[in-house]
This record gives sequence, structure tokens and C-alpha cells, in this order.
Amino acid sequence: MTYLNDRKKITVQTIIRKKAKGEPIAVLTAYDFFIARLLDRAGIDVILVGDSASNVVHGHDSTLPISMDVMVAHTAAVARGTEKALIVADMPFLSFQPSIETAVLNAGRFLKEGLAHAVKIEGGIEMAATIKRVIECGIPVMGHIGLTPQSIHRFGGPKVQGRREKSRAYLMESALALEEVGCFSMVLELIETKAAGEITSALKTAATIGIGAGRNCDGQVLVINDILGLREEGFKPKFLRQYADLPPVISTAIGEFISDVRSGAYPGDDESYSNND
Ligand code: KIV
Repeated sequence: MTYLNDRKKITVQTIIRKKAKGEPIAVLTAYDFFIARLLDRAGIDVILVGDSASNVVHGHDSTLPISMDVMVAHTAAVARGTEKALIVADMPFLSFQPSIETAVLNAGRFLKEGLAHAVKIEGGIEMAATIKRVIECGIPVMGHIGLTPQSIHRFGGPKVQGRREKSRAYLMESALALEEVGCFSMVLELIETKAAGEITSALKTAATIGIGAGRNCDGQVLVINDILGLREEGFKPKFLRQYADLPPVISTAIGEFISDVRSGAYPGDDESYSNND
């Protein structure tokens, strides 16, 4: 494995510069210390502590149940494993929607307690005033438009956005509004490829990070569990590329441990302490 940790620290300015230079931005999620350290040492640009933790760590069927306290704890663990990557913490459902004050206080917790460098906030133009105030308080914000999972019940399922004129116009208006209030980047989730490309070209400084939004984005993000196969069987959206299949590896190791314990093969003498150690 290549260790890239002699590289410079990634900041929101690095991300803005990467967009300007046309350098693709690589983003993956992490929720714990050890995976964060592997991502950081492999040279990832941004680690997103996604509220997808609700699904892939806590076993819920949506992102709605996860709380601020749990997200802050995941973020702090990731921060302890990260030296160079930019850490973005995902603001969970109802941590920013009720009022601008709620949004600022909760966003601040991610920087004060979680040691994140930025937060991610779901929503289009209707969230612009909230995002503006959070940024004015010194907290960088990554936006998130398209299919926003915290509104899954309103969407009625994971439907591709930007297929019709009205939806394209709303997405473009939202992207421009989020850039205008100062978002340094925004996730484009499940957006028709051409529409995502048009948004990316229209934005001057805010980098687009696609997931299911085609190749015409400034960067790409995937959920770490998904690329490693650590997800419910059958979860295979078209955009997902799985880079490893860990469940059989883990199951084999567990099975061997169980059988070694039951047969008495573990522990051996060299795995036990004597008075000579
Ligand atoms: O929570 C998450 O992991 C996300 C990404 C899928 C963008 O929001």
C-alpha cells in the first residue's frame, strides 16, 4: 500500500483549487478511527462522516433516526485517525431544519467536540439562509442536493432527480444559491448525468461531488461499507462499484476462530504466558 501522508493537509481552499484546476476530488465515508486512518494514509481528499452511519453502522433502514450525540462521537473517532484529509461531518435529521440558531449550535458542536473541519447540510435553495448564517459563523459548509435521504418519505423512494425541466431548474437554482451563500462544495446525489454536468459547469468555485450523478462532477463520493461489500445483500444501485468483498473473508476468520476454540487448537503454547515471559 502507498502511504501518502507526507502530503499537505487538505483544506476547503484545497478543494476549491482542485475544482479550478480540474483535479478530480476523491471522497469516502468513515465512521471510526481505524477506517479513517486507512483512508487518510491512502491519500483520500475528504472523509465524510455521513449520516449513512444510521444505516451501515446502526442497522436502521433510513438516515432519519441517528442523533447529534452519536454523529459527534463518530466524528471525534474519525478525527483521531486523520492527519491530512478534510473531515466533513454530516448534520443529521432535525439538527438544522428547526431554526437557524439550532443549525449554528449543532454545526458548532461538530467543530468543537468532533474536531471536524466542515459540515454537510442537505437541502436546496430553501436552506440557503440557514447555510449562509452557519458559514458567517466561520463553519465551512458542503451542500447536498438531488436525492436528499433525510427527505426520503417526501421523494417516495430513491428516484433519479433532474430528469424533467422543472426538477432541472430547481436543482440549478439551488446549486447557484448554495454557491452564492458560500458553500465550498456540494454533493449531487442521484442526478441525471447531463443535468449534473450542467450544474458543475455553472458553478465557479463550489466543487460538485457526485454519487449516482455521472462522471461530469468535480469529484465522487461512495459509502465505505458499500465499496467493501459490508452492506445488506441485494443492495446494488447502478452507480455502485464494489471494490472488495469482505463478508466471506470475515466469516471465514470467525468460523476458524470458533472451530479452534471448540477443538482446543487456540490458544497454543506460543499464545499463552508462562513464568519465563
Ligand atoms: O451520509 C452519507 O454517506 C452521504 C453520502 C452518500 C453523500 O450523505
